[in-house]
Amino acid sequence: MVPSSATRPTVLIARRLLPAGLDQLAAECEIREGELDASTERLLELAPGVDAIVADPAVTVDERLLDVAGSQLKIVANFAVGHDNVDLEACRRRGIAVTNTPDVLTDATAELALALTLAAARLMSEAESDLRAGRWTGWDPAAYLGLELSGAVFAVVGLGRIGRRYAELVRALAGEILYVSRHEKEDAERELGTVRVTLDEALARADALSVHVPASPDTDHLIGRAELATMRPDAVIVNTSRGSVIDSIALAEALREGSIGAAGLDVYEREPQVPSELLGAPRCVLLPHIGSATARARNAMASLVADNVLAALRGAEPPNRVA
Ligand code: DGY
Repeated sequence: MVPSSATRPTVLIARRLLPAGLDQLAAECEIREGELDASTERLLELAPGVDAIVADPAVTVDERLLDVAGSQLKIVANFAVGHDNVDLEACRRRGIAVTNTPDVLTDATAELALALTLAAARLMSEAESDLRAGRWTGWDPAAYLGLELSGAVFAVVGLGRIGRRYAELVRALAGEILYVSRHEKEDAERELGTVRVTLDEALARADALSVHVPASPDTDHLIGRAELATMRPDAVIVNTSRGSVIDSIALAEALREGSIGAAGLDVYEREPQVPSELLGAPRCVLLPHIGSATARARNAMASLVADNVLAALRGAEPPNRVA
């Protein structure tokens, strides 16, 4: 148990935590909750004196918030596997633990990447929009001719947990599965028959390329205008990782010019803004960052958040510490 009665610690839930985690925390802690649209100013109002902060990809945890929270702050528990919204160095300097929610969202996110791959390849967004808008006038032999993926070359950029699961899921379709990784993944090569290649080779050969690398200075615009220009004109590109990995304006241009086949995106460079260039681009499926949005994954993530917070408040090592 964390300390009780008058000394119950205070947890700031910056936006929203599902009951699977909230109930566990509320049993042992005082809870301060922001709102889904909590502004930076509102979070700064709520932060003073808290022992833990529960953040998520839409919450920026920076020096200012940490300073306002105060030196008793023990943990920032991120309700996500990605943690580019948290200034890890600033937390390290203050001895504040940072945790994430790995594993439990792997299936959900890889499944969404597969869904986006298929939806983009078969021009599902445009076909459905036309139908809903009353533009469908009947079966047309030449309409919505998409890319067939049976026997296709798939490329997975970043073969971590989610990338690997995506490779498993596309195995039934793939003629070949290429992967790009800083490290050789012998077990994936043995078990899935994946072949390690350079990013250049993946871009040049892929029929479908799915991005699964975290946001970092190294991956910022990893795929930009020059890289897109080397892709096959009918290739599909999918991003469920972080928006910063692909230059979205260059991607929108490539789609308009027809130098790339289609795109499926779940993430954007400055969420929740979606560049008008992308909104207007053809052959593009755009989703509002729902990679982990299944009841199973989100409940498990919420529960992991609570486990991490409670461990830190008890003085134990949080199970999913990233800093
Ligand atoms: C994550 O966990 O990083 C996801 O992007 C949230 O859906």
